[in-house]
Amino acid sequence: MSRFYEVKDRMGTRSVKWDMAEKLFKSKEVLPMWVADMDFQAPQAVIDALRERAGHGIFGYTLTDELIGGNIYDWVKSRYNWTIDTNWITYSPGVVPSLHMMVQALTEKGDNLLIQTPVYPPFYKVVEQHERNIIKNELIYRENRYEIDFVDFENQIKKNDVKAFILCNPHNPVGRVWTEEELKKMADICLKHNVLIFSDEIHADLVLPGYNHTPIASLSEDINQKTITCLSPTKTFNLAGLQASYVITADKKLKKKMDDKFLAQGMNMLNTMGITALEAAYQHGAEWLEELLGIIKENKDYALKHLNATGKIEVVEPEGTYLLWLDCKKTGLAHEDLKTFMQETAKVGLNDGASFGKEGEGFMRMNIACPKATLEEGVDRIVKALKEL
Ligand SMILES: Cc1ncc(COP(=O)(O)O)c(C=O)c1O
Repeated sequence: MSRFYEVKDRMGTRSVKWDMAEKLFKSKEVLPMWVADMDFQAPQAVIDALRERAGHGIFGYTLTDELIGGNIYDWVKSRYNWTIDTNWITYSPGVVPSLHMMVQALTEKGDNLLIQTPVYPPFYKVVEQHERNIIKNELIYRENRYEIDFVDFENQIKKNDVKAFILCNPHNPVGRVWTEEELKKMADICLKHNVLIFSDEIHADLVLPGYNHTPIASLSEDINQKTITCLSPTKTFNLAGLQASYVITADKKLKKKMDDKFLAQGMNMLNTMGITALEAAYQHGAEWLEELLGIIKENKDYALKHLNATGKIEVVEPEGTYLLWLDCKKTGLAHEDLKTFMQETAKVGLNDGASFGKEGEGFMRMNIACPKATLEEGVDRIVKALKEL
């Protein structure tokens, strides 16, 4: 049996997804399918490397040396055909911390930053917490699919003198893997109006068959000089608790500003176990990842088939990520009632669509990175509850 079918009890491991669920959803019976981590064990090579490192027993300050940079170089080259220079790398405990750093280091108080909504909730926070302003380029939702409104994208930038654009690619929660053409169009507008691109590509490896991830910075040297890219093995290999990620900045001046900001915050080192896991995952995790992507596709197909058949939920078909964006408007429920319905009647713990922006009202987000038995249980709970609605 594939290791991806094994249901491992995560309760009692201080799991945010599982151990916080009762408090958040106000019931012990709710099946957690919310926060974006997976109910799968990391690749065996990662577990073995961590065990071996733990066995050494000394956990002093640890270097992110050229070998670690080499692992990243190889991964980025082999997965996205992007040739980086290891001098462009800044290590960071997480992509959200990196976004906070970028906003502080590369924009000024009062600046306007563009995001494409609905979007991952911290995008709002990393802007507003530092007294910058959100400018929205709302995605177009048409025939159950999201697209970019390029005219509005440029208008918003011009009208508001936007200084930076925070791109989410692949996009959480709408599941688009932006095409080269779409990325090029956005990048050209950014170059034309001197807008920096902060590109959150944490879901880059989680792309479904038939789609390809393109780092926006890889499109041209000009775009590369204007882009700061966040990548990480933590979403890909389920290592979020180990906190090891990195930022790629080709432009020397921007990189220095970023590095100075990281230093000023005392953030110049990763934790030992995070480094160990990153190295093992990038060296030995490719086969595990292929298997994972097959499982995500199976789960996605199951959820789509059964949820769409209810006639009340329309799943936005994802091209990437393991997050399903459920259009629940045909339930006829007001948003607050929809949340209560999912929590109290269906007894599934989903993310509130409205937390991604007002465009997310009538939507819920469902995490399908779990063993098939868990996925089927969650989907079946919703299907049964909808029958009685
Ligand atoms: C788009 C996006 N960025 C960042 C993160 C979190 O990154 P980190 O845990 O490295 O801060 C997530 C997690 O779900 C995400 O979906």
